Amino acid sequence: MTDTTDSLDELLTCRLGGGRRQVEPCTIVIFGASGDLTSRKLIPALYHLFKEKQLPDPVRIIGFARRDKTDESWREELHEALKRFSRTQPVDQEVWAEFASRVHYHRGDLSDKASYESLKQRVQEGGHDQLANNLLFYLAVSPSQFSEAVAQLSASGLLRKVEDGDHWQRVVVEKPFGHDGASAQKLNDSLIQYAHERQIYRIDHYLGKETVQNIMVFRFSNAIFEELWTRRSIDHIQITVSEKLGVGSRGGYYEEAGALRDMVQNHLLQVLSLIAMEPPVSLDDEAIRDEKVKLLQSIRPMSEEDVARRVVRGQYFAGVVDGDMRPAYRQEEKVDPTSDVETYVAMKLFIENWRWSGVPFYLRTGKNLPLSASEVRVQFRPVPNVLFAAQCHNNLDSNALTLRLQPNEGINLHFNGKIPGNSSDLRPVRMQFSYDTEFGAYTPEAYERLLLEAVAGDATLFIRRDEVEAAWKVVDSIRNAWKGKSLSNREFYSAGTWGPEAADELLGRSGHTWRHPKIQK
Ligand code: BG6
Repeated sequence: MTDTTDSLDELLTCRLGGGRRQVEPCTIVIFGASGDLTSRKLIPALYHLFKEKQLPDPVRIIGFARRDKTDESWREELHEALKRFSRTQPVDQEVWAEFASRVHYHRGDLSDKASYESLKQRVQEGGHDQLANNLLFYLAVSPSQFSEAVAQLSASGLLRKVEDGDHWQRVVVEKPFGHDGASAQKLNDSLIQYAHERQIYRIDHYLGKETVQNIMVFRFSNAIFEELWTRRSIDHIQITVSEKLGVGSRGGYYEEAGALRDMVQNHLLQVLSLIAMEPPVSLDDEAIRDEKVKLLQSIRPMSEEDVARRVVRGQYFAGVVDGDMRPAYRQEEKVDPTSDVETYVAMKLFIENWRWSGVPFYLRTGKNLPLSASEVRVQFRPVPNVLFAAQCHNNLDSNALTLRLQPNEGINLHFNGKIPGNSSDLRPVRMQFSYDTEFGAYTPEAYERLLLEAVAGDATLFIRRDEVEAAWKVVDSIRNAWKGKSLSNREFYSAGTWGPEAADELLGRSGHTWRHPKIQK
């Protein structure tokens, strides 16, 4: 890029919200402090936010868990984990020392009233008004403990149900949020007794990804694409979230979840809602979430027959991924050897609204697939069968726009071009925007953005109650149709392939084919 382009870009940069977020001094209490999420994701994210001076000053972090540890021993553990999981290497020792001095450990039991009383004393230590009263409670614990923890926080007076006041308390809830619509509703009902909806931050880490946040920017800050974003121009849309890894050591959790609950209920439906929602009336969190909910509610409900026709499930058996032999799902640790849990799911959804009526949305996700990639492919309608198309005997590729969410983050526009030479041959070519080329390799972790937003009190990137319930409705109808039906032979796929054949047939019936992501190694 030339200097002139650089300065022009700088001149044309629109800074929303004046740059840095407004954050007030607060205490962040992490429940589940000994867990994997804390050491792998939360602490590295907080360390980076601290390093970039994005956290409030002062700030305090208290880890709450059952094991016996001191501040020092917990800091030492976190330091070791940070050396492994930090996205920037090496860890800056000076920054770490400063950060660590704000990190404390509080031994306690989630179901024990006295633990909350002593936590309260700890929070009030030092007499700093904001540190003692602006409180972010992060529940990185098992979902069955959410209600209890929130009830106890409320009983101890640490969590007060107030919408607006001089101080704030917020609760961040990790997924899974319920295991079906009914349990999600029950959980919501229970949380809402102790906190306002505006105090509850339900996490979907996909919303913390740069590329997912860019979907709205891409759609609503560019006239040329939004003009085409309707059934008149778009033939169908494919959303793929493929993973090279199997379930590994998470068999116990996965047996309860399966691909549908683990990925579709949250990540895929979130991406779908951003891709297909109507423009919100403003950029306020509620306005954006209103449109996402409307979209989820517009998904055409599926009867049992619809599910049989339009949803494909699969489970991997042994196979090779990247030269590595993978065991069958049923042979994985903590997995029932006769399990019918799906490790792959593909579906064809319709959105019943003015913009999308009749446009198929294909969603798929799976474990032990040939590569890890998430992308949205918007496939435009083909040209009429005249001129080049007629001469190419229907072999002319239609235009497509690919939003690559990860890896090789970027956006590609596919169109046809003439192959240089004395003939008139043509083939698909690509126009490419790559994050790396344009912005350099700055890729903050999703949790950094999410933690910052929760501290700042902006709920845009979190899931609202009606949103989570609308998403469960879609997933519940599929689960109910599967109930009591064992997997048939056709529903297995070999690790390292793109899923069961039925997934290809699902698209084939409408004359479509899956476009597998391609990644640069
Ligand atoms: C999690 C799922 O929510 O998302 C995992 O529980 C999955 O099973 C992960 O592997 C995928 O996230 P990412 O950011 O690696 O695409």
